[in-house]
This record gives sequence, structure tokens and C-alpha cells, in this order.
Amino acid sequence: MAAKTPVRILGLETSCDETAAAVVEDGGKILSNVIATQADLHAKYGGVFPEMASRQHIRTIHAVVEQALQQAHLALENIDAIAVTQGPGLPGSLVVGVNYAKGLALASGLPLLGINHLEAHIYSAWLASPEQDSVLPEPQFPLLALLVSGGHTELDLMTDHLTYRQLGATRDDAAGEAFDKVARLLHLPYPGGPSIQKAASDGNPQAYRFPRARLEGEWDFSFSGLKTAVLRMVRQIEQTPGRLPVEDLAASFQTAVVDVLVSKTILAAQKCQAREILVAGGVSANRALREAFVSQKSFPVHIPPLSLCTDNAAMVACAGYYHFINGRRDTLDFDVKPNWRLVKTEL
Ligand code: KG4
Ligand code: ZN
Repeated sequence: MAAKTPVRILGLETSCDETAAAVVEDGGKILSNVIATQADLHAKYGGVFPEMASRQHIRTIHAVVEQALQQAHLALENIDAIAVTQGPGLPGSLVVGVNYAKGLALASGLPLLGINHLEAHIYSAWLASPEQDSVLPEPQFPLLALLVSGGHTELDLMTDHLTYRQLGATRDDAAGEAFDKVARLLHLPYPGGPSIQKAASDGNPQAYRFPRARLEGEWDFSFSGLKTAVLRMVRQIEQTPGRLPVEDLAASFQTAVVDVLVSKTILAAQKCQAREILVAGGVSANRALREAFVSQKSFPVHIPPLSLCTDNAAMVACAGYYHFINGRRDTLDFDVKPNWRLVKTEL
């Protein structure tokens, strides 16, 4: 019997400040995963400077794609389809990736698929870990996905591949946005999430009791009250001379975020009788959050390995694979969708 021909997808990601390209085989095996980060470029502005981001994508995208193909030891002829992030994200950044992908598709004759960045984050849980040799079991449906990134925080029930129903979302700041804003309040460098985590590792999480917006009976989140509580505490402390207890403030803030995310996700998973929980998006790189999910005993949890939590193109290729085998093909006239939501209908 002839061996099954592998399906190889070239993924491209330029939604924010990472220029990334990757080749993934059969939706799980990473053949290459190249990321050119712009973090240093934006650090002096304390956040992403959109126009600079798109110009930097233009400078690097060609080399990043070439490197991804080289590292996979493949040429475009060995690729089955191109998957590119179509949204949500910064319009100018998305346009660079989408137009580059269209050019490649036109020149090579390969099919092109526009991928939702949030869906791609979720699909990072289907990628085989580059950090471990053993193959982890695939996530099982129905599963509850907690998506926690810089721009989004939501709970989505997945009953099958590519099938989502939203239970709740943030009413104000996304969890990552809260990390970034509180980092700025504490004079910690961009990006805020890793800075808060680092400072928190030397702090006491019980030093300050910050509010947890539970929104009883609802599956939505709210983080702006917590951010304001940190701001008030910082102002109060700054009225007396002395050093700001950044470590204690960071640890107390982080523990409040983790507490709300974990408790609400478990309750929601119980309510919708999910078999498993999946956590994805940049904030899922947070050590305290990972430890809290791993130590709870209510549900099996899938959290991507650290290198796949933040923006990358392997996750885009993986989501692209599931659309590709489902028969989807896009025409070359699609536009970017900077505000694209993963789910329109709510439970
Ligand atoms: O998914 P992502 O890379 O980009 C978006 O799609 O937004 O997420 C970026 C967000 C940022 O807000 C960043 O501060 C946060 O993820 N983040 C973290 C950590 N690493 C990244 N937040 C908390 N702890 C971390 N270790
Ligand atoms: Zn992202």
C-alpha cells in the first residue's frame, strides 16, 4: 500500500510586531518556525508603533519566508497551500503579509487561505511540541478554549474542528492589555507580560488584595477595575518617599488575573460539560497561569509549549491545514479584516 502523501502548509503571520513564517506537515509536525521579532524596535515607545511595524514587516518578510523554506528543506513546489493571517490585527501589518502571500500564490499557483489569528492561537494546541520528544494526545471535543492574548480574552466552546460558540469575552481590557498597562504603571519595560512575570517572581502575591471582577452568573471578564485599583495603590504609595514595591504590586496583580481566569474557565467548562480545557494566546506563556491550570484537578488541560504561545506562523499553518483538508480555498481578492471576530453567535 502506498504511503499517504503528507500535506504541507506554508504559514505567514504579520498581524502585530512579529514577522513569521513556518512550514507544518499534516497539521502537527513543525518542519520550520521562523520568527523575526520587532520587540526591541518598539520597546522605546512602550508599545507597538503601527507604522513602524508594517514597514519592518516589508523589510523582513521575504527573508523570513526563504528561511522557513530552507529550514524545512523544501521548495515552494513541495508545498500544498499557503495560509496567511487575515485578521484581527493592525491593518498596515496585516496588509504586508496578505499581499506577500497573494504574490506567492499567484506566482506558484498554490491555493491561498486567509486565517483568523485567534483561531490560529487555538490551533497551536494541535502542534507537536518542538521542546519534547513525546507526542502528546490531541485535544478532545467538546473542549472549552480560554483565549488570552494582547487584544482578546474570551471563552469559546469547541464542539468539533473549526466549530466555535462563544460563552464570554472581556467587557473592557484584554488580559494581555491589562498586563501591558500595569507594567507601564510600574515603570516596567515593554512587553509588559514577561516584565510583570519577572518582577512578580520576587514579590509577595498576598501583599495587596486587588479586586477580582467575578461578574457572577456571567462568563464575561473585566480587567479595567483591577488596573484602576493598581493605579490608585501606586498613587497612594508614591505620596510617601521611598521605593515603589514593584515586585509585590506585580505579584499581587498577577495573582488576581490568574485567579479570575482559572476559576471562571473551570466553572464554564463544568457548565457546558466540556471534556477538556485549552488555554492559548500570548498570556498563556505566563508561568503562574500555567501552574494554576496544571495544578487544578477538574479537567485535563492543553497549553501550548512556551515557544508557541506568543505569535508565530506554525499555528497559522496548523489552522490552515484544517481548513485545507475541509476543502476551503480562497480567491485572491480577499481583504484584511482588522476587527475579525472568531465567533459571531453567542450561547
Ligand atoms: O498572542 P500575543 O503574542 O499577541 C496578540 O495576539 O495579542 O499576545 C501578546 C500579549 C501581550 O499583551 C503580552 O504582554 C502578553 O501576551 N504576554 C504575557 C506573557 N508573555 C506574553 N502576559 C503575561 N505573562 C507572560 N509571560
Ligand atoms: Zn496573537
